[in-house]
Amino acid sequence: MIEILSPTELPRARAAGALVADILQTLRSRAAVGTNLLDVDRWARAMITGAGAQSCYVDYEPSFGRGPFGHHICTSVNDAVLHGLPHDYALADGDLLTLDLAVSLRGVVADSAVSFVVGEARPPESVAMIDATERALSAGIAAARPGARIGDLSHAIGSVLAGAGYPINTQFGGHGVGSTMHQDPHVANAGRPGRGFTLRPGLLLALEPWVMADTDELVTDADGWTLRSATGCRTAHSEHTIAITDDGAEILTLPTGAAVG
Ligand code: MF3
Ligand code: CO
Repeated sequence: MIEILSPTELPRARAAGALVADILQTLRSRAAVGTNLLDVDRWARAMITGAGAQSCYVDYEPSFGRGPFGHHICTSVNDAVLHGLPHDYALADGDLLTLDLAVSLRGVVADSAVSFVVGEARPPESVAMIDATERALSAGIAAARPGARIGDLSHAIGSVLAGAGYPINTQFGGHGVGSTMHQDPHVANAGRPGRGFTLRPGLLLALEPWVMADTDELVTDADGWTLRSATGCRTAHSEHTIAITDDGAEILTLPTGAAVG
């Protein structure tokens, strides 16, 4: 099913997006060398409940995971790229951390992910990989407007990733968002322009380019959730939720700078 938000629902989507973005920004600023992933999860839970929002993850039991997720944020480190299950691990200088968060606020969901390097180190390949996913995300957003097709967005995203030299895995990608986190249409991270669903005002989409440095093959961790690169190489992931507007697209998950938690 594809949901189209009414104009009166858009303010709620903006509020959900701002909350997700401000929580991610706060967690990013707190994540330091020595920070434990379980603390990140606890901080996320406190900020979600403190804002009167609901976690989209804690009870989530999709076919691609084992049982309910049981945590409030995805924490994916280095070779982990998607659905990283928070566990007892203290971050080290130079770790590449991806935080992926989706919450529901007054019935509307927003979903966003950021990747960054922890501490003082700036490993050039990691910085380049994060940059490629951010540029791919920007290109996808720039292609989003009423009348554009999903394939136009996929093509824009995939062209940047492939142009940066990364293999592309199309098992997981972006998706429609609305009263629930994962909805149609699927937005693959590569594709042909001029194909697929035609965008219209009120559609919410989560666009989420992700890459692995030297492989397109994923393996599932023994925890039943965390998806890692098959070769152990580093990975990156960037995601925004956008709303299609009358003349383009609005990014809902930009930090406002408001204090949360
Ligand atoms: N928010 C993720 C996405 O970007 C999905 C996480 S599912 C979870 O689509 F169960 F792992 F939390
Ligand atoms: Co998503």
